[in-house]
Amino acid sequence: MPGVNGDDLLDGLWPDDPWLVDPAAFGRCATPRARLRFLVTYAVLAPSGHNTQPWTFRLQGDATMELRADRTRALPVVDPVDRALTISCAAALTNLRIAAEALGETVEAEVLPDPADPDLLARIAARGTRPPVPRAARLLRAMTARRTSRFAFEPDPLPELLRAEATAEAEAAGAALSWAETPEDRHAVALLVSEGDRIQMSDPAFRHELAAWMRSRHGPTRDGLSGAAFGMPDLLTFGAALVVRTFDMGAGQAARDMALAEGSPALAMLATPGDSPHDWMAAGEALQRVLLAITAGGLTASYLNQPIEVPALRARLAAAFRSSGTPQILLRVGRGPKPVPAARRPLREVIREDRA
Ligand SMILES: Cc1cc2nc3c(=O)[nH]c(=O)nc-3n(C[C@H](O)[C@H](O)[C@H](O)COP(=O)(O)O)c2cc1C
Repeated sequence: MPGVNGDDLLDGLWPDDPWLVDPAAFGRCATPRARLRFLVTYAVLAPSGHNTQPWTFRLQGDATMELRADRTRALPVVDPVDRALTISCAAALTNLRIAAEALGETVEAEVLPDPADPDLLARIAARGTRPPVPRAARLLRAMTARRTSRFAFEPDPLPELLRAEATAEAEAAGAALSWAETPEDRHAVALLVSEGDRIQMSDPAFRHELAAWMRSRHGPTRDGLSGAAFGMPDLLTFGAALVVRTFDMGAGQAARDMALAEGSPALAMLATPGDSPHDWMAAGEALQRVLLAITAGGLTASYLNQPIEVPALRARLAAAFRSSGTPQILLRVGRGPKPVPAARRPLREVIREDRA
């Protein structure tokens, strides 16, 4: 089969839906530029707040690419300083780096290289092929298997080894993962989650923003939150958005999340030393490495970030975990059903081509 220069990718040689990526196609990318473009397929499988996918990849020259924040996709109410946006982009960068290791490309990434250009989150360079890293192959498979699962989890405790692996992954990325596993600790955290639910849902601006990102997973924009992610038929998403926009259902949401948090075998909080863009990039890398380890271990995870998003609850959450760090992400972890994949935009919508 002839090598491709990568433009064929945009012409539909590879599937429009990034979830259908075929790793074997990497071998047909003849140039570093084509290989970088291919690696973006894995980057966009990363999670993002409200599935906004707030990233742009700008290909430049033969072998370099910029990862840029797409702030037109920001969530000003729930994420006013683009903290979660930056974490999401860092998760995408992490997928790209691990995919490069698994497929056999040397990739160097400089994080936040230009203080005068805060949208430039990373400058990425392809430095040539190398032998694939065997350990990364397992994580590559986890990238397509990972889902945010908002269903109830089975109560069995987490395997000790998996917990240790996830903790080490977070540490290696410059973050700390703390665990709440006793019923008392989970109860204390669950109370903060339910308090966060009530505060957020009582705010019409929060509900409007959430509703604005609720849409069918088959819609033209290929982003946002489908009812399918919450166990309801995709077709009902429009009605659900209308309800969210109109009514304060904070009490019901609080009760549901309380039960989910207390019923999960473990809650895990990711924290960083500070709260700067550098910390958010570290948190995003840690998040993705933790999620891939959990997925590869056969478990799943879902977010309970309310006590981080509501400023008044953030320090109380850190105290509940006896952590001196700054909370960035709160997960519940366990074994449970997985939803269908959430929509992803096709590559042609996230890649910009500079030919200079
Ligand atoms: C930084 C960040 C914050 C998130 N916050 C929440 C959250 O508070 N509640 C939630 O249910 N999902 C949350 N998510 C999960 C996204 O909604 C999810 O990643 C997105 O819908 C795509 O689905 P997927 O993860 O199954 O691919 C968050 C994801 C990221 C990366």
